[in-house]
Amino acid sequence: MENFEFYSPTCFVFGKETENKAGELVKRFGGKKVLIHYGGGSVVRSGLLDRVKASLDKEGIDFVELGGVKPNPRSGLVYEGIDLCKKENVDFVLALGGGSVIDSSKAIAAGVLYDGDFWDFYQGKRIEKALNIGTILTIAAAGSEGSPDSVITKEEGMYKRGASGDAIRPKFSILNPTLTQTLPAFQSAAGITDIMAHLYERYLTNSTEVEVTDRLIEALLLTMKHEGPRVIANPDNYEARANIMWAGMMAHNNSCGVGRSQDWNSHNIEHELSAEYDCAHGAGLAVTMPAVFNYVYKHNVMRFAQVAVRVWGCQMDFEHPEVTAKEGIEAFRKYLISIGMPKNFEELGAKEEDIPKLVNVLCYGDGRNGSISGFVTLNEDDCTKIYKMMV
Ligand code: NZQ
Ligand code: ZN
Repeated sequence: MENFEFYSPTCFVFGKETENKAGELVKRFGGKKVLIHYGGGSVVRSGLLDRVKASLDKEGIDFVELGGVKPNPRSGLVYEGIDLCKKENVDFVLALGGGSVIDSSKAIAAGVLYDGDFWDFYQGKRIEKALNIGTILTIAAAGSEGSPDSVITKEEGMYKRGASGDAIRPKFSILNPTLTQTLPAFQSAAGITDIMAHLYERYLTNSTEVEVTDRLIEALLLTMKHEGPRVIANPDNYEARANIMWAGMMAHNNSCGVGRSQDWNSHNIEHELSAEYDCAHGAGLAVTMPAVFNYVYKHNVMRFAQVAVRVWGCQMDFEHPEVTAKEGIEAFRKYLISIGMPKNFEELGAKEEDIPKLVNVLCYGDGRNGSISGFVTLNEDDCTKIYKMMV
């Protein structure tokens, strides 16, 4: 196990009707003027926005609103949010929605306290200061409710890039599984896929003797394997929704990733797909992960064989562990298809003829120098082959 620091200061408030505590929580963390930030309208239709406003009113907390965050959030609305917060003297950003709304909120919160262009953070500058952030999560997926990360797409060039810093970890996150019951099945499945990707990206490590985090990841993957189909079959299954929601947080606040190197190649390869085709991030990952895993498994066959046996119930073939490794990848691929995820470029809406462009942006775009690295280093040629495997 490698040395690490783990800082996860978010207060999680979990369960039914907990959104009614929003006002009380904003007050507890010193908020006096709030920006309520939300997406394309699901929080209006569900009545969540009205309940949150009532909760803020009850505590005498002033607020302004900015809706319209799109999935795969864009830089344009972030600039608008920064201007609005400065004009209105906002000191707290409250995100109502999923990863896209939370990430846009984080970018605004960091941008308000920064004199330069907020995009600097998405080109590698660490975020040191931000307005306080709270979240009310409506989809279990990205894990942004407990993470120090934000992913934004810059409209000029359609670069989808991430920024990080403990300053953008939410002060509180309200997790009410009931709020996720209105999700369309496809979005639920995309969320499940993203959560499992966050686990796999950590499982694929070059560190050794990481038993505790290996076992935590396996437990969470087993939970997702069990609960995913239950939620797809019955969207109103509160207990399954609850387990998925907490697994989604645990998968990405890094409690499972400490003390070990991590991969993130699948995420980097996928981000070009959701930037170019505006597909759901989880759907892109469903097509990306099996291709990446089949391309890299020989780098550490036993790691893939281990997850195949412990999570996917494969029999260990001691003479040919690569067979077991491949069986595990195939079992995961079939699981993703069974919950309704796309299996290739066509189903995702991606085009084979765009591969050179995707590879170019992936390997050279916005400051990169010809490769991406994680579990293995992948150059232009590797990435081209991986995208072709998805066709
Ligand atoms: O915009 P509205 O109307 O709210 O609709 C949303 C959106 O269309 C809908 N939705 C959300 N909750 C709903 C609902 N519809 C009905 N009922 C509900 N309860 O679902 C759609 C997708 O929402 P989005 O926020 O985009 O989903 P998700 O949470 O998967 O976030 C995806 C974004 O997060 C980034 C992804 O790249 C992508 O941009 N990620 C962020 C990470 C982080 N900050 O740590 C890590 C992840 O790996 C990921 O990259
Ligand atoms: Zn993800």
